[in-house]
Amino acid sequence: MSAPNKSFDPVAVAALQPAAVQAAVEQALTDIEAANTLDELKTARLAHSGEKAPLTLANREIGALPPQAKADAGQLIGRARAEIKKALEARQVVLEDERDARALSEEKVDVTLPWDRYPLGARHPLSTISEHIVDVFVAMGYEVAEGPEIETEWHNFDALNLAPDHPARTMQDTFFVEAADAGLVLRTHTSPVQIRSMLGSEPPIYVVCPGRVFRTDELDATHTPVFHQIEGLAVDEGITMADLKGTLDHFAVAMFGPDAKTRLRPSYFPFTEPSAELDLWFPQAKGGPRWIEWGGCGMVNPRVLAACGVDPDRFSGFAFGMGLERTLMFRHGITDMRDMVEGDVRFTTAFGSEL
Ligand code: PHE
Repeated sequence: MSAPNKSFDPVAVAALQPAAVQAAVEQALTDIEAANTLDELKTARLAHSGEKAPLTLANREIGALPPQAKADAGQLIGRARAEIKKALEARQVVLEDERDARALSEEKVDVTLPWDRYPLGARHPLSTISEHIVDVFVAMGYEVAEGPEIETEWHNFDALNLAPDHPARTMQDTFFVEAADAGLVLRTHTSPVQIRSMLGSEPPIYVVCPGRVFRTDELDATHTPVFHQIEGLAVDEGITMADLKGTLDHFAVAMFGPDAKTRLRPSYFPFTEPSAELDLWFPQAKGGPRWIEWGGCGMVNPRVLAACGVDPDRFSGFAFGMGLERTLMFRHGITDMRDMVEGDVRFTTAFGSEL
C-alpha cells in the first residue's frame, strides 16, 4: 500500500489509473472467456477477484486517497470489479450448463438395449415330455407311481415272471450291483413299479410310472446305457384288451394329433399274456405318415397278479411301456441319441419354453 496521500488531489496511484484499471478488466474478461472448465474459471476468479488480484490490491489504495480522488477511484474500481463479477457469474452459468449437458449425455441409459443378457436355462425335453404324458394319464384318472432305480432282482425279474433260469432274463443286459449275491440291480425297465403298485394297494389300480432305467449298452447314436421309460398299468374287474387298445389310441391322439392311432402285433413278454408290440401311426413323420415301433404291452400275466397278491380270477389288467428317448427322437426328428445325454444347453434351449 502506498503512503498516506494528503498533499494533492487527484492523486496518481498507478494501480488506480483508468488505463491500468481498464487493462486489468480486459485481462480478466479475456481469461474468464478463455476458461473452458470450472477449474480454469476458478483459477481466473482467484487471479482477478481474489485476495491478490490487481483490482483487489488497487481497491486497498483507495482508503489513503483524499476525498474527491477516493470517490472517483471508488466508482472506477467498483464498476470494474462489478464487471468482472458479472463476467465470472455469466461464465460460471455457461460452464455449469455445459458440465450438466455432458453428464447427461455421458451417463445416458439406453433403454432400448436388451436387458435379458443372461440366458435362462431350459428344462430338458425328456422332463417335459414325461410330464406331458403323465398329464394325459392323470386326466384319465391315473395316479403317478415311482420306484427305486436300484431295484431288487425279485421286483425287476422274479415277480415279473422272469425266473432265474428264464431265457427272457438274457433279453435284458443288466447292471448288477455289488456284492454279487446282494440280489440288487439297476432296474432294466419301469415294470418293477407295476409290482410295487400292486403290492402297495388294492385294485382298482390305475398308475403311470415314468423313470430312469439302465442297460449295459454302449453309448452311440441309437443306444444309451441310461434311458427313460414310461409304464402304464390298469388292474380292475373286467379289464380287457379292448380297454388297452382304447387307452393307447387315446394316448396316441393326445400326443400326436387326431390322425394318430396304434396297432398291436403279437409278441412275447413274460409278464404279459397275451403280449404285443405296440406300433404308432405317426402322421407327422418326415416323408409321410408311417408305422413306428413305440413300445410293448399286453394283459398282465395272471402269474404276476398272483405274485402280488391280486386274485387273478376276480381281477385282470393291462400294462404297456415305452422309451421316452425314442418317443422324443421321432416326435422331434432327433437323429442322434447322444444329443439327449450330453447336456449341451444349445440342444436343450431349442425346446426351451415347451411346458
Ligand atoms: N418292460 C418292457 C420293456 O422294457 C415293456 C413292457 C411294459 C412290455 C409293459 C409289456 C408291458 O421292454
